[in-house]
Amino acid sequence: MRLNPFDEPYLTDPAAVWRRVLDAPGGVHHNPDLGLWLISSHAHVRRALADPATFGNALTLVPTYDVCPEALQVILRIDAPPTTAAADPPVHPRTRRALRATFANTPDRVDQRYGPIVRRRVDELVSRLAARPGARVDLVPELTTELPLLVLLDLLGVPEHDIGRVRDWADGQIALIWGRPDPAEQVRLAQSLLEFWHYCQRLVEARLGDGADGDDYVSLALAYRDGDDSRLTVTEVASIVFNLLVAGHETTAGLLAHALDQALSVPERWQAMVEDPAGIPAFLTETLRYAPAIDGWLRVTRRDVTLDGVTIPAGARCLLLIGAANRDPAVFAHPDRFSPDRPDASDHLSFGHGPHFCIGAALARLEAGTVLQRLAAAIPGLRLTSDHRRSYKPNVAFRAHRTLPAIVDIGRTPRPAAALVASAAEVTAG
Ligand code: HEM
Repeated sequence: MRLNPFDEPYLTDPAAVWRRVLDAPGGVHHNPDLGLWLISSHAHVRRALADPATFGNALTLVPTYDVCPEALQVILRIDAPPTTAAADPPVHPRTRRALRATFANTPDRVDQRYGPIVRRRVDELVSRLAARPGARVDLVPELTTELPLLVLLDLLGVPEHDIGRVRDWADGQIALIWGRPDPAEQVRLAQSLLEFWHYCQRLVEARLGDGADGDDYVSLALAYRDGDDSRLTVTEVASIVFNLLVAGHETTAGLLAHALDQALSVPERWQAMVEDPAGIPAFLTETLRYAPAIDGWLRVTRRDVTLDGVTIPAGARCLLLIGAANRDPAVFAHPDRFSPDRPDASDHLSFGHGPHFCIGAALARLEAGTVLQRLAAAIPGLRLTSDHRRSYKPNVAFRAHRTLPAIVDIGRTPRPAAALVASAAEVTAG
């Protein structure tokens, strides 16, 4: 079975490729070009995500191609211990406990702890757009990638003047691990990743030096460890920060861009949202199913496993095709239709499933829900430009729009944002 994430068909119309994989006989296929096993059905992807004894995470953050020796030398100097997406038992249950205790992850706690930051940052960015009536803007750099990064910097207590560096480091990590850089680029990206890791270590050490008594995430994580390395080490706190700065950035940016794309590419959908924002939570859930920001995720088999009569040997890297699983007709009726009113949209696997389930799911939903509300209120005539063609950055795991050009048409009288403030349950549920 051939699937090339760097080829034009997958970059412009991934759903056609997922359909081909789902329709092929046998639920599991080896892809010789990528050196990966493809797992596509909803049942198998769900099982693999939830079964760490068979499908481990140890290689989830390891490049999917043979890294050149010079870049490898640099990568080996990144001594960040596995704490989240790359950790397996017995480490992961302990670090996951730390994450759950320190990072708000239920809709109510997220709204209480992070809501003020999210609303302030959304208002800043939306007002900046609304102040340019008639302008042609690119919503990707001006909104969708900017917001999640600003929110993360605020949460973690990272100085805003470092935003450019953090953006480049995080983008570089995604390109190094899940992209296909040439050897010279691999070396450059590996050096940048090493710098990023040292930056996270210095950030945590500085906070420790300041007494770590703030209400930012780093201080909370240091307080949680309470000087006890068996709970969490200082280096593990730095490693969690290193992971959060990437995990919470391109992912949420992807959700925002996919949601805006779905909303604006059908003007009636956008008008419905402008007139009644109550449908936003269901709209976001269907966006997550239909156009996941992470549509392929890696696992490595820890023992032989047989699925649908096919045996995957121990030590094999597997690409769990979340995008395909979300379109599996065995679970979703008319899966290629975007229908926010489908009853089972929340069965999507876009935030994972099981022990590694995304810790930032409620935060991502809060950010996306707030953006849609505020944008629909402030710029009701917003529309994509007529020359817009969808295209995505080449990547095995992340599906990110390159651009989303739009016209800032204020249209009808904008509604006051205060009239639209939704409760956490309204924008984060589902
Ligand atoms: C739409 C936005 C997002 C998507 C689609 C997404 C997707 C995912 C997926 C698929 C996983 C599962 C990984 C696995 O099973 O190995 C995951 C885990 C994780 N996510 Fe997200 N994520 C999003 C937003 C966020 C945000 C905003 C944060 C934090 C600021 C975050 C932090 C994490 C962390 C730390 C993990 C690892 C948890 C663990 O291994 O226990 N994510 N995410």
